[in-house]
Amino acid sequence: MANIYVTRLIPQPGIDMLIAAGHQVEVNPDDRVLTQDELLAKVKGRDAVLCLLTDTIDAAVCEAAAGCKIFGNYAVGFNNIDVPACTRAGIAVTNTPGVLTDATADMAWALLFSVARRIVEGDKYTREGRFKGWGPLLFLGGDITGRTLGIIGAGRIGENFALKSKGFKMKVLYSDVNPNPTLEKELGATKVDMETLLKESDFVSVHVPLMPETRHLIGRKELAMMKPTAYLINTSRGPVIDEEALVEALQKKTIAGAGLDVYEDEPALKPGLTECWNAVIPPHIASATLETRTKMATMAAGNILALLEGKRPPNILNPEVLPANLR
Ligand code: DGY
Repeated sequence: MANIYVTRLIPQPGIDMLIAAGHQVEVNPDDRVLTQDELLAKVKGRDAVLCLLTDTIDAAVCEAAAGCKIFGNYAVGFNNIDVPACTRAGIAVTNTPGVLTDATADMAWALLFSVARRIVEGDKYTREGRFKGWGPLLFLGGDITGRTLGIIGAGRIGENFALKSKGFKMKVLYSDVNPNPTLEKELGATKVDMETLLKESDFVSVHVPLMPETRHLIGRKELAMMKPTAYLINTSRGPVIDEEALVEALQKKTIAGAGLDVYEDEPALKPGLTECWNAVIPPHIASATLETRTKMATMAAGNILALLEGKRPPNILNPEVLPANLR
């Protein structure tokens, strides 16, 4: 029987899987992020930890967790985990790829529609009793069908998002280190450099992981390349965009708008963002459907169980820590 800690309440089926396998499971009962001190204390003496993207798993946590075999992250993104530090400590790290691809891509579309068609602004206006009748100039937004869609990062989620544009007959550009034959075949998409993408797209959607190379990938200079009628969508990680520069662009209307699900200093927002009504700003909920979050929970639990049972976790990020026969 292993001793497993879950850093926050997740959908019950994931927790049930761990319990049903006969393990001793402790779940943080409070629906909040643990402080770093609490996390350091709670990982002590565990065989496995199911953690979240809001937990910072650094070298100090690895040290406190001495003897722990796995950090099973409940997210596809793992920028919250110092994977090399885990590897040095001999701790496996896993994530939850694939199961949230559709939900995240769907959300990027929801943001695109909301900001281009001014849904949130219009909804607020109606609720405030200001709707006095149809008007020819009321809430003019931007066309979507037939426009140019720019995908930055054509991996799993970027590709899924782009493929969903089919019904809108869009011209698709993408920039990525690797070519994406599926997008080229299915949509006639063209791989271009970032500058061309930013200058030519009506919608720019960001789908890159957060790494040192992608921090502030979209800054002042890149925002200035975008058309004044263009919209920026981000469902990846906040620090990929220089949020201060974005607020400035939204305030000065050098771009038409932004749909953001993620923020540079989550949950804090850069000053001025909440006053920008040309931005739609939900609270990092792209994967937040009951079905998707449940699949993430069972996938994270499945990774932990596989390791504890001496099998290769399906979503292992540092296979070098596994015994040679499982790498
Ligand atoms: C992830 O899995 O990385 C998402 O941001 C969680 O919703």
